[in-house]
Amino acid sequence: MKVFCIGGYTWYWWLYLYFDPRPKMNKEDLYDREKELEKFFDALSYASMIVVTGLRRTGKTSFVNVALVECGYPFTILDMRGLPFNPSRADIIRRLELAFNQIDRKWLSDFVEALKHVKGVSILGAEISFEWSKKELDLTEIFAKIDHWVGIKKKKFVIAFDEIQFIRGNKWILSFIAHVIDTYHNIIVVITGSEVGVLFDFLGFNQPSSPLYGRHFFQIQMTNFSAEMAKDFLTEGFKQIQIKPSDELLLYAVQELDGVPGWLTLFGARCRDKKSCSKEIVDEFASEAGKLARDEVMKLVAYSRRYGIILNFLSKIGEATWSEIKSAIEVKEARSITNHAVSTLIKNLTKIGVIIDRNGKYAIKDSILKRGLREEPLPE
Ligand SMILES: Nc1ncnc2c1ncn2[C@@H]1O[C@H](COP(=O)(O)OP(=O)(O)OP(=O)(O)O)[C@@H](O)[C@H]1O
Ligand SMILES: [Mg+2]
Repeated sequence: MKVFCIGGYTWYWWLYLYFDPRPKMNKEDLYDREKELEKFFDALSYASMIVVTGLRRTGKTSFVNVALVECGYPFTILDMRGLPFNPSRADIIRRLELAFNQIDRKWLSDFVEALKHVKGVSILGAEISFEWSKKELDLTEIFAKIDHWVGIKKKKFVIAFDEIQFIRGNKWILSFIAHVIDTYHNIIVVITGSEVGVLFDFLGFNQPSSPLYGRHFFQIQMTNFSAEMAKDFLTEGFKQIQIKPSDELLLYAVQELDGVPGWLTLFGARCRDKKSCSKEIVDEFASEAGKLARDEVMKLVAYSRRYGIILNFLSKIGEATWSEIKSAIEVKEARSITNHAVSTLIKNLTKIGVIIDRNGKYAIKDSILKRGLREEPLPE
């Protein structure tokens, strides 16, 4: 943020910073995440795959953008949103071409030089284009050259796939990523996506047939802001846009929006647009947030309806023991199920951060999700 004091007035260079609704690109616009950044930089020295997970709107994309800008290594980010359902090789290669052309200027000429003699790659000035329509482009050779280039420079090359869950259908790209992390020791793959999408669909969390199943990865989880942080984030954000909401309204927003950075940001941005703040704005976003959180866990139901039974049950009752969860499923299905099956369901829900274990009692972690499920239960 750029702040100027001229003639006794404070002037802000960008008009909204914390409350900019786009994913953040600069460290100064990113609130906190210091510990996560430290973990990320540390993992770059030894991990070949870093997975950034988190529920929707927790700031995964913003975190990766900032972490890569700050890491000091050449990097590229492939945005997987908007890919067709079954993306072709050409679709992915086009994204790669787009991402390569956005490499920081500081590295661009060296990078272009490294790829100069690769078959299927043409260089026009500083622009890289792939002959993606032909079979000639050899991705393996491209990555081998990049690995060699950064190796000489004693650097690493970081390639990030944002919203990886959009790669559905033919998953040849997963085998290719497995090849990159197994073969090129100077290339680090960073993957982000919403919890359910990344861990279940993409990493094949429970599917041994997935090409990446069982690969070692370092996981960084984006969590919601604590109540104290959320209040501080809002206070600082409102200062930046020169609005002063009451303390009572801030506390209401903190409680209803549950510390989810994306919803706090949208709330602030809407107040900025309206040039005032109200409880109605908070309510509007809390309900929208509930729907989005519910849509996200809906994906689990495609794996097993039992996830629906457990989450609906917990949303109604608040918290429950392992045995209470087991009997809720048994009552619903009118038959007994194995202890192993119950433990696996609970373990998976805990691992993806949807439920937490509070001294032997399980509860839905997010009150926004709880609200969404109460408003509309999942199919069972
Ligand atoms: N630490 C932060 N500081 C300031 N703003 C943040 C922070 N984290 C997230 N935001 C804001 O919250 C919103 C959501 O962030 P972002 O898109 O990075 O989240 P995401 O987890 O990638 O979301 P999605 O699940 O939709 O992909 C954006 O408006 C972003 O600017
Ligand atoms: Mg994102």
